[in-house]
Amino acid sequence: MTPTSWEADFELDRRNSLRLPCRALWHAQVPDAAAVSNALACAKRLGMGVWVLGEGSNVVLPEVLEGLVLGLSDRRIDVLQDDGGRLRLRAGAGVHWDSLVRWCAQRGLWGVENLALIPGSVGAAPVQNIGAYGQELAATCRRVEAVDRVTGKVVQLEAGACGFGYRDSRFRREMQAWVVTAVDLELHRHGCAQVAYPGVAEILAEVRGVTEAGQASPLDMVESITALRRRKLPDPEVLPNAGSFFKNPVVTRARFESLQEQHCDVPGMVVDSGVKLSAAWLIERCGWRGLRRGSVGVAETHALVLVHHGGGVSTDLLKLARDIEASVRERFGVTLEQEPVELQSMGRL
Ligand code: EPU
Repeated sequence: MTPTSWEADFELDRRNSLRLPCRALWHAQVPDAAAVSNALACAKRLGMGVWVLGEGSNVVLPEVLEGLVLGLSDRRIDVLQDDGGRLRLRAGAGVHWDSLVRWCAQRGLWGVENLALIPGSVGAAPVQNIGAYGQELAATCRRVEAVDRVTGKVVQLEAGACGFGYRDSRFRREMQAWVVTAVDLELHRHGCAQVAYPGVAEILAEVRGVTEAGQASPLDMVESITALRRRKLPDPEVLPNAGSFFKNPVVTRARFESLQEQHCDVPGMVVDSGVKLSAAWLIERCGWRGLRRGSVGVAETHALVLVHHGGGVSTDLLKLARDIEASVRERFGVTLEQEPVELQSMGRL
């Protein structure tokens, strides 16, 4: 017997930012880690697969999920410690990420201001180690509370045990092992705006009239980054999308130099592991920007963003993604890696 709180034949069309049609056999809204643990145990007894869905802003959903989809509704933000200079907080997985960013900025706290307007929930943030405009979650995240999906135990993982990387983490690599239920962040009252990323200093001056980083407040940064994102990235409410559809690929220095010989304007940024290329640039050069193919396409304003114009299904979008990958591989010899998670490939217990 399924618990009475589970809802059958649950529509997820409006629970994913790509607005792809999807039905789950079962859906349960769970308030905290203990409830997650109970739901996992119950699904196991029933031999049912389990998927966890936050706000669905970084996923590609199939038409049917034959099992239980869990939604996490813990929207608490609790201050754990405050020594005047540093503040440590715990946010529940169900908190809307941008609300947390604003909560911090309104209190003059530094640490997540450049991550304003990233769609999604707090629970999803550590999974892909969200990042933008020179900041990454990993820099402020101190601990993640998660449920071990095999044992059902609630564990507290220190940041060092989370395996954070570029748009990557242990929770992403071991998706079938964890359900993130809360995140602890450490914020600072004394800080300085990070304006080194191209366009950030300019938007700060334009939107807030602030020309020196030292004069900017966390709220100035949040408003500026929000304006910058609104300008560059399509609003999922208007044109459904999942943000960047591919990661920026990293190649060796030698590979980058040989690319430069053929394409003198290829952008690259030196990182520890080699040179990070711009996936958007590669895709644009293959002629995909602004292109529409039936129900799906590539955004006009940003070549890294695949969009759903309506009436399509996941396979339409994934076919387009595979064709983009193939053309980038053929023209530049570079392999792109998809950023959003395809839900059918994960989650079965
Ligand atoms: N570019 C193009 N064509 C385009 C867009 C960009 O050629 O259509 C080139 C330009 O040379 C531009 C460069 O790409 O200077 C970088 O563009 P942008 O600043 O938009 O950054 P990005 O590398 O494409 C990354 C993140 C975004 C994040 C921005 C800003 C990844 C996969 N994406 O994009 O994250 O907002 O930086 O920090 O790392 C997301 O993950 O969903 C996301 C939107």
